[in-house]
Amino acid sequence: MSTRTTQEEIRRRRTFAIISHPDAGKTTLTEKFLLYGGAINLAGSVKGKATARHAVSDWMEIEKQRGISVTSSVLQFEYDDCCINILDTPGHQDFSEDTYRTLMAADQAIMVIDGSKGVEAQTKKLFKVCTMRHIPIFTFINKMDRDAMDTFELLDDIENNLGIATCPRNWPIGSGKDFKGIYDRESGQIVTYADTMKGTKEGTETLIPLEDQAAAQAATGEAAYEQLTGELELLDGAGAEFDVEAVRRGELTPVFFGSALQNFGVERFLKRFLELGMAPGGRTAADGAEIDAETHDFTAFVFKIQANMNKAHRDRIAFMRICSGRYDADAEVKHVRSGRVMRLSQPQQLMADERKILSEAFAGDIIGVFDPGLFAIGDTLCMPRDNVTYEGIPTFAPEHFARVRQVDTMKRKQFVKGIEQIAQEGAIQIFQEYNTGMEEIIVGVVGVLQFDVLKFRLQSEYNVEIILDNLPYEYIRWVDSPDVDMDRLSGTSDMKKIRDMNGRPLLLFINEWSPQMTIERNKGLILSEFRKN
Ligand code: G4P
Repeated sequence: MSTRTTQEEIRRRRTFAIISHPDAGKTTLTEKFLLYGGAINLAGSVKGKATARHAVSDWMEIEKQRGISVTSSVLQFEYDDCCINILDTPGHQDFSEDTYRTLMAADQAIMVIDGSKGVEAQTKKLFKVCTMRHIPIFTFINKMDRDAMDTFELLDDIENNLGIATCPRNWPIGSGKDFKGIYDRESGQIVTYADTMKGTKEGTETLIPLEDQAAAQAATGEAAYEQLTGELELLDGAGAEFDVEAVRRGELTPVFFGSALQNFGVERFLKRFLELGMAPGGRTAADGAEIDAETHDFTAFVFKIQANMNKAHRDRIAFMRICSGRYDADAEVKHVRSGRVMRLSQPQQLMADERKILSEAFAGDIIGVFDPGLFAIGDTLCMPRDNVTYEGIPTFAPEHFARVRQVDTMKRKQFVKGIEQIAQEGAIQIFQEYNTGMEEIIVGVVGVLQFDVLKFRLQSEYNVEIILDNLPYEYIRWVDSPDVDMDRLSGTSDMKKIRDMNGRPLLLFINEWSPQMTIERNKGLILSEFRKN
C-alpha cells in the first residue's frame, strides 16, 4: 500500500508511448530506460544487450504462449521518484489497430527516429494519431554513432513531413566514426562521446563548457569545434524558441540526439523528458465535462481487449487506462454501458517480465482485468454512485483488405458468429458489398498478421475454415456527409463502395490520390480517415 497520497501518486506518474518505424531503436531505448529504472539489471555485464532483450521480450513470450503475439501492454518502473508507464506499441509484423488504440491511452509520446533515415512511414502514421489528440511529442534522434543525415536536414524533415515545429535541446557534434558527442544547449556544455559503456549505467563522458575553447577543441578536434559553433550560430538565428506550453499543446517537439545502443545521451534525455512531460491531467467526458485526474474518483476506459487463442482458456483480458483517482481492488466499480456494478476480477499489471496482481493503482496506470465477455473497446468504468462516459475510441482506417470465403458453406452460422465476435474485440473490421446482403464479407486490417490471427482463431475456436482472397485496396474512407447520394457518387475508376455492419457507407481506393479526386468531383462530400465512435 502506498504511503503517498493519491494526489502525490498521480503527480509522479508519466504515461507515454514510444512511436517509431521498425528498427529505429525503440526496443533498445526502452531497455536502456528499464536499466536506469533498475527494472532490469545488467550493469557491467558484457552480454548486456542480449540479457536486456531477453528480459523485455519475456513478457512477449508469455503472450506468445497464450497463443498470440499481438500485444500492446505496459511496462511500469520507477526512476528519480517518478513512476513511469511505457505503453508498448507493437511495430513489426504485429502492427495492428491496437497500436493506434494504445496511443489513446498515452499522455505523451517519445518519437524515435533513425538519424540516417529521418522520418519513415510508420512514424508518420503513428504521429498522425498523436496529433489528433494534441499530446506532447518528444523526439530522440537515434544511432548518432552511425553516419547520420545533416542535422538541419533532419529537423527540416520532421517539420515538413510531420508539420510540427522542432526545438533541438542538444546538438550533435559529427556522427558515425566522427561522432564526438553533443552540445547541451541547456547547460552550455559539450558532453563528450565515449562508446565504452555498453550495457552499463556508468558513463565516462566528460563535460566541457563551450567557452573553454582550448579544452573543447582538444576533445572534439578543431574542425568539429568550428563546425559546431557555426551551426549553433545558425540555429540561434533560425530555430524556434523553446516554449514548454507549446510542447504541452503538441505544437513543438523538443529534439535530443544520442545513441541508444551505446547508451549515450539516453539518461539526459530521460531526465529532461520526465521534467518536461506531463503527469496525468484528466480527460474530457462525452458530455464535455472535464474529469480531473487528481480530484475526481476512479474512472477508467478500456482501450484494448486481448483474446486468448488457447482453446483451453477462452478468457479475455481487458486493458484499461485509469483516468482519474485511485483504483482499489476491494472496491466495487460500475461498468457504465451495462450499468453493472462489480469487482474487477484479477486486476494485474505488467512489471518488466512478470505479471503481478495488484491491490491499488492510480490515474495514469494501466491495468489488465479478466473480461467475462462484458467489456468492449471504449467502455467507461467509474464508481457505482458516479456516472461518467468517456468518448469512444475511434475506429482507424485498415490498410489491407481481403474477401473471406468459407470452405464448408454449411457452417454459415458459426462463421458469422465467429467473425462478428472477433470484429467486436477490435482485431479486425468487417464490411459488406454496398448493394448485396451478408453473403460476401470483406475484412479490413491495419497489419497483415491479423489475417493469420483471424484464420487461426476461426479454425480453433469456431471450427470454421476460411480462404482469404486479397483485394488491392489500401485506402479506406468513411463517408461523413449525411446527405450524399451513394448511388450517384462520381468516383475514380479504382473506387469501390462498401458498408460497415451498421450500414454506414465507406469507400475503398487503390491509389493514394483517389480519395482527394473523389472529394473534388462531388460537391459537399466529406471523407474521413477514422470514425469517431
Ligand atoms: P526497434 O525496436 O525500433 O525495431 O529497434 P531495435 O531497438 O530492435 O533496434 C534495431 C537495430 O538497431 C538493432 O540491431 C539495434 O542493435 C540497432 N540499434 C539500436 N540503437 C542503435 C544505436 O544507437 N546505434 C546503432 N549503431 N545501432 C542501434 P540488430 O542488428 O537488428 O539487432 P541486434 O542483433 O543488435 O539485436
